[in-house]
Amino acid sequence: MVTRRSLFRSASVLAGADALAACAEEPASPDYEQTASEIWRASAPAARPPGAVARELVRCATLAPSSHNTQCWKFRLAPRSIAIRPDFARRCPVVDPDDHHLFTSLGCATENPVQAAAAHGFMAHPVPVDQGVDVVLEPTRPAASARFQAIMLRQSTRGEFDGRPLSAPELTQLSQAGTGAGVHVLLLAARPAMEQVLALVASGNAAQLRDPAFVHELKTWIRFSEYEAVRTGDGLFARCSGNPALPRWLGSPLLDLFLTADAENDKYARHVRSSAGIAVFASERNHPQQWIEVGRAFERFALQAAAMNVRTAHLNQPVEVPALRGQLAGWLGIAGWRPDLVVRFGRGPAMPRSLRRPLDAALQQV
Ligand SMILES: Cc1cc2nc3c(=O)[nH]c(=O)nc-3n(C[C@H](O)[C@H](O)[C@H](O)COP(=O)(O)O)c2cc1C
Repeated sequence: MVTRRSLFRSASVLAGADALAACAEEPASPDYEQTASEIWRASAPAARPPGAVARELVRCATLAPSSHNTQCWKFRLAPRSIAIRPDFARRCPVVDPDDHHLFTSLGCATENPVQAAAAHGFMAHPVPVDQGVDVVLEPTRPAASARFQAIMLRQSTRGEFDGRPLSAPELTQLSQAGTGAGVHVLLLAARPAMEQVLALVASGNAAQLRDPAFVHELKTWIRFSEYEAVRTGDGLFARCSGNPALPRWLGSPLLDLFLTADAENDKYARHVRSSAGIAVFASERNHPQQWIEVGRAFERFALQAAAMNVRTAHLNQPVEVPALRGQLAGWLGIAGWRPDLVVRFGRGPAMPRSLRRPLDAALQQV
């Protein structure tokens, strides 16, 4: 996935961008920070009727990561369970033609309520069903885990990290969190291996940027201004990738002018070289239910990382471009498995929070 940082790489553009942003923002912008704080408010366990708990668990589910922040999920509440299903109206046919990322995102949205349920006094049992999951809830004694607390801390942090390695026990905790049913996580912390992955990221990025359909689809999910981000509650807000907010009429043509593979690849090089390591998630079967398991394992990994003050960000080009996916599997010695996700990790400053749609946009009452 590309970002708009390259738009502002040249000094002349940089000098003007913030000033333009200041004077060209749409009028009556809602308060982004206030909206974000409300979305990411703590999920305080409290005595609530079961229906209200289930609704709170769905709120936790919607805080999960999703490809392009499409929030490609629907929820339905039943007396003792939550149904989680894909929202195919929110698929990305160009970057994700087989819906792999869509079902992986669904898995992330499954793991959050699983982690949150215990804190709210329920044991959660995810049951695979056709095209989704039913999370069945059974009363238990409340117990809030560090991964539950981390739901509100986790973010995809598209910035530079501090370059420091993680300790062996920290890597072990991440590895255990990221392993699931038929899902393996390979942690690469040696610099030559990370450079190999970076080379695949760069060639995937160049291939994607050469494809007008990819760029067009990406642009439909970019939220150039605070106004756009708050109005839609979804998509990729410019500031979450370290770029200034601009109104679409200005940001969109600038993207066309300045987005280049070289500039993006320079950024990815800085990102990888400042990371402590790269995690590659790979699965044994190539099937939507398996991709849901990948999402659950990745989300546990991201929550465990957040609980340890370790940040995560995706570098998925090598798994999105089919030819590179095969190369990655061959190089890792896992031919026959599908490499699902490529995620860098390390410590570093937070970025602005991403937004979510209102709960009722994805929640259907039965
Ligand atoms: C399956 C999947 C694929 C993703 N691919 C990318 C990617 O290639 N590049 C990227 O920067 N973020 C990627 N993301 C992260 C999303 O863009 C991010 O989760 C979303 O914008 C919401 O932001 P948040 O994670 O900070 O809450 C991916 C997330 C998921 C679940």
